[in-house]
Amino acid sequence: MRCDQTPAWQTLRAHAGAFRNFDLREAFAQDAGRAASLSQAAPQLFADLSKNHTDAATEALLLSLAEQTGLAQHRDAMFRGERINVTEDRAVMHWLLRQPAGSLSGPLAAPLAQVHETLDAMLAYAERVRADSEITDIVNIGIGGSDLGPQMAVLALQDLVLPGKRLHFVSNVDGHELVALLNGLQARNTLFLIASKSFTTLETMTNACSVRAWFDAQGGTEVARHFAALTTHVEAAAAMGITSTFGFWDWVGGRYSLWSAIGLPLAIAIGAAGFKDLLAGAHAMDQHFQQAPLAQNLPVRLGLLDVWYRNFLGYTSRSIAPYHSALRRVPAYLQQLEMESNGKCVDRHGQALSYGTSPVIWGEPGTNGQHAYFQMLYQGTDVVPLEFMAVKQPTHTLAVHHELLLANALAQAQALMLGKPDEGGHRHFAGNRPSTFLLLDALTPASLGALIALQEHRVFVSGAVWGINSFDQWGVELGKVLARDIQARLRSGDASGLDGSTAALLKRLRS
Ligand code: F6P
Repeated sequence: MRCDQTPAWQTLRAHAGAFRNFDLREAFAQDAGRAASLSQAAPQLFADLSKNHTDAATEALLLSLAEQTGLAQHRDAMFRGERINVTEDRAVMHWLLRQPAGSLSGPLAAPLAQVHETLDAMLAYAERVRADSEITDIVNIGIGGSDLGPQMAVLALQDLVLPGKRLHFVSNVDGHELVALLNGLQARNTLFLIASKSFTTLETMTNACSVRAWFDAQGGTEVARHFAALTTHVEAAAAMGITSTFGFWDWVGGRYSLWSAIGLPLAIAIGAAGFKDLLAGAHAMDQHFQQAPLAQNLPVRLGLLDVWYRNFLGYTSRSIAPYHSALRRVPAYLQQLEMESNGKCVDRHGQALSYGTSPVIWGEPGTNGQHAYFQMLYQGTDVVPLEFMAVKQPTHTLAVHHELLLANALAQAQALMLGKPDEGGHRHFAGNRPSTFLLLDALTPASLGALIALQEHRVFVSGAVWGINSFDQWGVELGKVLARDIQARLRSGDASGLDGSTAALLKRLRS
């Protein structure tokens, strides 16, 4: 049943009215067990949800909503390999990429065997590149899911990157980015990875052609050694003269593809064993999502909280605050994951929605954000839930720095909640601002895998409750088509049929 037609939806609406007066400080004063009951351990991490605008009664109502919208059935359909991506008639099986070899029987046994065959080949290749001392620079050319995942993960695990290997990521079609990078490279020391699920994306294909031309112009030889393609479209890569190819399947969405061949830059950076640990951490989270009762299931609790905030309390964005500089690309990664998945205004059957879907996801690492935009989170007119991410163990020995970093994270969460309600005028700071605190013991391949899988599943949960297809992205197609048309017009100067603004800008660009 569509969420807005369920009895639980109506009950939650009434409940939200009563909730307008909810106060976090009172909630803690009245319930000594609040921190414990609104916390949740999950594989590799711990989540404190207690500083959120929620309580046991709200969670119970949200669980009824989950039941009435068939969340568990939808989850199980995904894990059975059903074609739940209905608009593209595809299964959704990024989780299969982290499933241990030989662990499934039935119709999924064969795809799982293929997954491991490709994984083994890709990891063997990664090890060969690691052992090849002449290759010092690895350049990943890809965009969106073919860039953000590996880039985010390589940065996150920077301490584990093999000395002597430099990883670069080029995504933008802006030639400034590519030229600046190429200027510092030598063809004989560089490996280019052309990463594109479709192998048609304009930006990636343009950059790929330019680096091929650069390689030849530099006198580069042995294309097979210096180029590899990561794609579902192996023939298109071959047409470009690239013979080292690692494939994946149409049932892996671009923004869910870190675990596939798209993860090759990470595998080169941290090695086969590290990459396997990443997969194992994510798999542990898959099992938690599949097996934990919904009331103690972290992706479910977070995803339902997201629905509560978006549809009943009217919070339209969520800010991500990683208190660890290595996690600095996580906000951008989550932006694509959530906004491209759940930024939809029709349901799975194409019917218009009468309720909000994806919030705006944004953020910067702490403590930088504190000195930039936290003011708005504290005293602005909008309530913006904040998601802290912190890591207990540092990998450096500057103990005071880490102590200060963690102290800041805890203090910000506390300040948002406590405020300074007794002060008047400009100093008045009402507090009662919500936040979630995610804590990892250490930043390792396994904990990163679990953290990212957690986020994937929480996006699944809100998307499932909203009844949307979280696995297509039809909206981005129009811009791609129009760019082709405008590119031709930039050459010809033909402005006929264009709107006044575009025509005037075109004229100015050509003058
Ligand atoms: O334009 C959006 C998108 O299709 C994303 O979903 C995807 O991650 C990105 O482009 C890159 O696509 P590809 O991997 O096919 O080049």
